[in-house]
This record gives sequence, structure tokens and C-alpha cells, in this order.
Amino acid sequence: MVKPLRKAVLPVAGLGTRFLPATKAMPKEMLPVVDKPLIQYAVDEARAAGIEQFCMVTGRGKTALIDHFDIAFELEATLAERNKREALELLREEAMPPGSITTVRQQVPLGLGHAIWCARTFIGDDPFAILLPDDLVLSNTPCLTQLVNVYNETGGNVVAVSEVPREQTNRYGIVKIGETHGDRVEVTGLVEKPAPENAPSNLSVIGRYILLPEVVKFLSLMERGAGNEVQLTDAMAKMIGHTPFHGLKFEGKRFDCGDKIGFLEAQIAFSLARPDLGPAVRAFLKNYVNS
Ligand code: G1P
Repeated sequence: MVKPLRKAVLPVAGLGTRFLPATKAMPKEMLPVVDKPLIQYAVDEARAAGIEQFCMVTGRGKTALIDHFDIAFELEATLAERNKREALELLREEAMPPGSITTVRQQVPLGLGHAIWCARTFIGDDPFAILLPDDLVLSNTPCLTQLVNVYNETGGNVVAVSEVPREQTNRYGIVKIGETHGDRVEVTGLVEKPAPENAPSNLSVIGRYILLPEVVKFLSLMERGAGNEVQLTDAMAKMIGHTPFHGLKFEGKRFDCGDKIGFLEAQIAFSLARPDLGPAVRAFLKNYVNS
């Protein structure tokens, strides 16, 4: 029987240098898209997919992320006193069950693989999801839920994949493709940030993973890869052949919110998709694009 997926690791130790000065005193994961911080999108998506336990891999200056998921008692009391029911309800709906978030610190920035390894005690013997909050997905069915459906059938590793222009393969983990069944591809190889001429395909891994706990064993080797960092991609590649490994061409559009243009595009796409804001945004956008 496939072990149910209940755990997620959220690597949030990055410095966010691409968004300075906004991120000087604030974690980049607190940047809002419309009115919700990136970290909240990741947590909401994970909860929708059945995740109950979270581990944030943090670093210095990331306290706001932990506070964000706490109960803001003074704020709630003031909202109640002023009869601001809607705002209060919003906060209460998003409140996390007590004890559902744990944090560990990545003391040195040695790469994504190292960040996940820092969560090894939390992972234990269970399958777990990884959500990179920089990657935002606008879809009908939450992206992680789509991956869970594949995991429940295969019981193996599953990553979300999407096509990128050839010249951009050096920005992502790239998949070598085996048998393909509709939107599901068998992963027969993985390379971190290959040059276009060495890339096994133009199918990139985006920041949504479901992995078996065995990956920790390979991360523990602390082998350095691309950029002299401990790469998650390299540890995942070592599992190929031992356990089922699939990529899912998910339904939806991915926005790279670690990049200014991707972040701005997400603001537009997410606000257009909102019934309360979409019509007004569409109307004012016309003033800019026609001039
Ligand atoms: C990380 C992973 C990479 C993946 C990407 C998705 O790269 O190492 O394999 O394709 O996330 O966003 P980073 O963006 O941290 O350089």
C-alpha cells in the first residue's frame, strides 16, 4: 500500500538578493502576489493536497515567516472590537492547527539539496513534498494535488515538469524522458542546469516534488554539483532505476516569482483571475498596452 503523503518541506532560507531593497528587512517569501504572501500560496496549496505537517528550512532574518502563521492575538481582538468580520474570518480560515509547523535552520547556504537534508529528522521514514515558494502555479486543480494523484497510483517519486525554451535549460533541473503516457513521463535521468547543447530535453523540473525518504541517504553524501552546491537534482538522479520516477506535465501556468518579470506577470495573471479585481485590472491595463 502507498504510504499517504502528509509532510511538506518548504525551503525558505534564500537571501532574495534579486529583490533588494524590498528584501533587506523582509524575507522574499513574504512578498505578496496581489494580497497574499508567496509562502501562504505554498502552504494553502499543500493543505489542499492533504499535507498536515510542515517544516520550514529557514535562515537568519526569516522570523516574519514564522510569525505569519502564528495567531495575531492583538490584531484579532482589535478586528473583533471594530466588528471587521470579513477580515477576522479570513485570518481564522488560514490559521494553522497547533503544532503543524516546525522549523529548522540552514546555517550555511550550501544549496537546495543541503536545505532538504537539514530537514532529515522531520522527514524520517515518510514520503514528503517539497514546495519552492518562488514557483507559483495558477491552475484549476492545485499543482501538488495533481502530483499526489500520480503518487497515489505509482507510489514513487513525482516531480512537476514544464517545457522551457532550449536556451534556458541552464536555469533548471532538466529531465531525460523515457516512456510517455499523456501528461505523465517516465524520468530516466536528471541533470541540474545543463547548457542547451548538453540538455537531455527541454523539460524542466519546477518547484513541486513528491519524494521518497531514501533521497536523504543520497543527500548525506554531500557531493557538490552545479555551482559547487549540494544539488537536490543529483540526489534524485541516484534514485532512478530503484523506485518509480515520473514527471507530470501539470495543468496550469507556472510563474517564476524569484525573477522580477515572472513576479510582475504573476501579479497581473493572479489579479485578472480574481472575480473581485479582474474586471478593474483588465480595464486599466488597456490604458497602458495601447499607448
Ligand atoms: C531549483 C532546482 C532546479 C529547479 C528549480 C525550479 O533551482 O535546483 O532543479 O528546476 O529550482 O524553480 P534554483 O531556482 O534554486 O536555482
